[in-house]
Amino acid sequence: MRFFEGCTALITGASSGLGAEFARQLAPVAGTLVLVARRAEHLDEMKAELATRHPGLRVFVYVMDITRENQNRDFAEWLVKEKIRVNFLVNNAGMGDRGPFATGDWAKIHAMLELNVVALTRLTHHLLPMLLEGGRGAILNVSSIAGLIPLPHMSVYAATKAYVNSFSDGLRMELRDTGITVTAVLPGPVETEFGRVASRGAGEPEWSSPDGLLVSVEEVVRQALVAVSADKARVIPGWKVALFMGLAVALPLGVLRAILQRQAR
Ligand SMILES: NC(=O)c1ccc[n+]([C@@H]2O[C@H](COP(=O)([O-])OP(=O)(O)OC[C@H]3O[C@@H](n4cnc5c(N)ncnc54)[C@H](OP(=O)(O)O)[C@@H]3O)[C@@H](O)[C@H]2O)c1
Repeated sequence: MRFFEGCTALITGASSGLGAEFARQLAPVAGTLVLVARRAEHLDEMKAELATRHPGLRVFVYVMDITRENQNRDFAEWLVKEKIRVNFLVNNAGMGDRGPFATGDWAKIHAMLELNVVALTRLTHHLLPMLLEGGRGAILNVSSIAGLIPLPHMSVYAATKAYVNSFSDGLRMELRDTGITVTAVLPGPVETEFGRVASRGAGEPEWSSPDGLLVSVEEVVRQALVAVSADKARVIPGWKVALFMGLAVALPLGVLRAILQRQAR
């Protein structure tokens, strides 16, 4: 964790799940944390918890819907006003939608595209000059193993995460000699609020994660931070998940399609 000593980390989606855990694991070493999400009360609870445990840590809470461009602009101005120089950006906020595309609610699909793709890209674009000026820093994009294969009944979500994987790799290469590293973490199933948000509610079939592939929130975040400090391009937390996905992507695409299609029926 020496890599993160005294860093100023900005974490999107810090009000629950993986984002809250990133804040908890960075808190003992970071100098400043900026926690961003829409639910003010959750962020305030997080801030109170961290302030009690880590009296030397500066914690800022910023309530924002990151899909709103005007709120992003206000946020960038606020960072300047508060003299906060971010050098570790954790693009974590994201959501899913589970169910057939044909019957999906367009508003939810659109919100997912805006959050997982547009907001992540825009925030990175807004903050990159600050990171580059600092000369040393890191970007961590929270993607998903869903971005490695087409996923029926989560087809848009999987496509957004394929975008995140590709964007992360491309940007990483662009920034190679700048002192800014880019890492993507590709978790498998993790128990957070993600499942509830992705669910379409009553009438939808119950979904449970494949046996043995569940990885704890703590372990996903721990492995993600180790990967950032080791300047890894990608990490799939949990050896079983990594092995499972290694086998899946090694299959000829036609075979993979046939297997996924059978499961989707
Ligand atoms: N859980 C899994 O199985 C799993 C697997 C692979 C990848 N992931 C990825 O992990 C990341 C974190 O998800 P999670 O599992 O921790 O789920 P989560 O508990 O639902 O957390 C999502 C976070 O995103 C924030 N968020 C949602 N919409 C937002 C918006 N418009 N503006 C600002 N913040 C917003 C939420 O806060 P507010 O509601 O307070 O705004 C919340 O803090 C996501 O990118 C997800 O795709 C999760």
